Amino acid sequence: MKRRTVLLGSAGVAAAAAAGVVLWRPDDRGAGHDAYFTRLNELLMREGPGHPVMLIDRARMNANIDYLANSVGPDKTYRVVVKSLPSTPLLQHVMARAKTNALMVFHRPFLNEIATRFPEADVLLGKPMPAQAAALFYAKLGATPFDPSRQLQWLIDSKDRLDEYHALARSRGVKMRINVEIDVGLHRGGLPEPEALDALLETIRGDAEHLEFAGFMGYEPHLTGVDGGLEHPAVVAVLERYRAFIARAQSIDSRLDPATLTLNGAGSHTLALYERDRTMNDLSAGSGVVMPTDFDTPLLAANTPALFIATPVLKRYDELRIPGDPWAAKLMQWWDPNRQRLYFIYGGYWKARYESPSGVPDPLYHSTNQEPLSTSASVDLAVGDHVFLRPTQSEHVMLQFGDLLVIDEGAIVDRWPVFQQTG
Ligand SMILES: Cc1ncc(COP(=O)(O)O)c(C=O)c1O
Repeated sequence: MKRRTVLLGSAGVAAAAAAGVVLWRPDDRGAGHDAYFTRLNELLMREGPGHPVMLIDRARMNANIDYLANSVGPDKTYRVVVKSLPSTPLLQHVMARAKTNALMVFHRPFLNEIATRFPEADVLLGKPMPAQAAALFYAKLGATPFDPSRQLQWLIDSKDRLDEYHALARSRGVKMRINVEIDVGLHRGGLPEPEALDALLETIRGDAEHLEFAGFMGYEPHLTGVDGGLEHPAVVAVLERYRAFIARAQSIDSRLDPATLTLNGAGSHTLALYERDRTMNDLSAGSGVVMPTDFDTPLLAANTPALFIATPVLKRYDELRIPGDPWAAKLMQWWDPNRQRLYFIYGGYWKARYESPSGVPDPLYHSTNQEPLSTSASVDLAVGDHVFLRPTQSEHVMLQFGDLLVIDEGAIVDRWPVFQQTG
């Protein structure tokens, strides 16, 4: 081959590679705040605290509550998941709007708080507490009309745990209502098959003074995203399994009426599957009320995000700056149109995704103190403006910001304290 042909050939390859590189370059995905976030930003500039806050949009939340409550329907109980909505006024709001008294609780300090603040509530534990935590609940239960022997169901996942609770009930001289966790396919524990029920029911029936069988809890988030309804084989399998436990309980005690039991299941992701089903009479949901990003799932498509973190911009630079060789920053800035500007925000690294401005690429590094945020040149925020994020989950994240700011019609209409983690 001639030398000139080789040279021409390599020039062609280089040109094709350069064209490929240009084609591969990311698009400019950046956009400033839309009308909704512009209004929120203006509100927070006027009345915000100047540090990260958690906002709840009341109108959006109300629509979400209505959707969930309608899905549950009038014949079943809608049980509100406390860990996903950990604030007394928030729970009061949801319970009043959905006309329900039922709560599901997952943390011992929250349980004592609920017994004090919601003396009329019907409470089911969402996970099996160590007997030590159950004992502490009774020890800390102050003067309240809340009567655990009528209003509280402890969740029991094994015969060993039942025996520990039995000993506790006897030593305290109390009656404990027992709801049995059953494995309907998630494999997160609970009774693995209906036959395992026999030993538990024998113990419970053997001491009616201290123990009472109250129902089942079979959680099935592995059905999230199933395309189809009650006929879907995965849903059929869950419900068949659930019914097998009910049948076993009835075969042990023929007088048992399932209508008098709490037959709990579902979560926000799956609740809408059961509109026409009558196996379970008690369905749980929490997160779907506020819609963190993990809940952008098919059966919640009608719900709208109602929960945002808002945090002020502390610094702005019209170029990318990173520690080390400035050429690295220049190259990155040249390559990615979404890295033309650099902002530093107050705080960061929450379990959350940037929502507005939109098109924000992953931060170059994370910081819980001042997170760097690069954007395209189409994003034009000033120092003091706010950036908005959507939490990926509400559980835990909602506890990180102090009072929730309730927003309606462009105004802060309420401030709702959140639960304390300890107590
Ligand atoms: C036992 C149980 N039920 C229901 C839920 C549903 O809660 P959410 O609607 O907030 O997803 C959960 C969530 O973890 C759970 O563990």
